[in-house]
Formats: sequence, C-alpha cells, structure tokens
Amino acid sequence: MELLKSVGCSKRVRLHCCTVRAVAEAVAERIPCDRDLVFAGALLHDIGRSADHSIMHAYKGYRMLLDMGLPEELAEIVRKHTGAGLDQKDVEEFGLPPGDYIPATVEEKIVAHSDNLVSDSILVDHTYSMERLALRGHARGAARMGLLHKELSSAYGEDLDILVDRLGTKPVLIGPCAGLR
Ligand SMILES: [Fe+2]
Repeated sequence: MELLKSVGCSKRVRLHCCTVRAVAEAVAERIPCDRDLVFAGALLHDIGRSADHSIMHAYKGYRMLLDMGLPEELAEIVRKHTGAGLDQKDVEEFGLPPGDYIPATVEEKIVAHSDNLVSDSILVDHTYSMERLALRGHARGAARMGLLHKELSSAYGEDLDILVDRLGTKPVLIGPCAGLR
C-alpha cells in the first residue's frame, strides 16, 4: 500500500486494489496457488494507473515493477491482468509493446479474474464485466472472460459469482486496506 501511495496512485485506485485483493483471497482459499504472490499481484495490479488509465496501464505497471527490481512473476501478473488477457490481435489493435498478455499461471488467472469481479470498489457478477466489454466492441475479450470464469469456478468448486453474496458488495478490508473505505 505504501508503494502504491508513493508512486501516486489515487485513493480510489488503492481502494479498488484492496477490494480485488479481498476477492483474490477468497478465490485462493479453495484453489491451490502461491497465496503471497496472488495477494501481492492483486494489490499491485493497477500500479500503472499512477501514470496512465488507458489499456497501457498494465504494461506500464509491469515495467514499473521490473524497474523496481521486483520479481518477474509478479510483474507478469500485472501485465496480463486486463480482462482475461489480450490476444495478439488485441495487442496490435491497442498498439501495445509485443509480448504475451494472456494469463497462464494460476496466480495470473486468479488476479485477472478477481479484477473482473470488481467494478471500482464494488463486487459484481462476471456477466457485468463481460457485458461491458462486449458493449465496447470486444467480443473476443468477453468470450475469453466467460471461459476464464468457467475454468476458475470449476477449480473453486462453485460458481464464483457466489462471492457477491458471500463477501457482500463491499467486502471487509484488512490491514493497511482497512482505513480506505
Ligand atoms: Fe487494471
């Protein structure tokens, strides 16, 4: 949280990151993964928004973490977190630096999809985020999100949309996140 603050992330972005962390923690309870990596990735996934709110924020965040000497596996989570990732056609259309933007490890998938279950700082069904993407003309991205939801729900053992009921639309935030709301 200190890192997010020091690079200039707004309170709104920090609250969003904390909310995504709360969702990621719930998802990680039932899916074997490196929990510390998931929590760090969730908290830092939008660090690039300190510099840019466009789709480029994921790449910028990735570069920031690498420049700070943080682990590559953490930076990769940040680069691949938008939606359910971006395919090569998206990468070209958005003019992003070449690279792999599709979440592949379980930690990358959990952070990307926990972000899909949060709008600003409110928990939402994944269909809400899918529809938003589809309405913006990103049909392939919306379809990928649906597939990621199915895959992670299956690993979790229940439809992950249940988290809206389980955690509430505004989940309890802990530690340095607690004072943000
Ligand atoms: Fe983001």
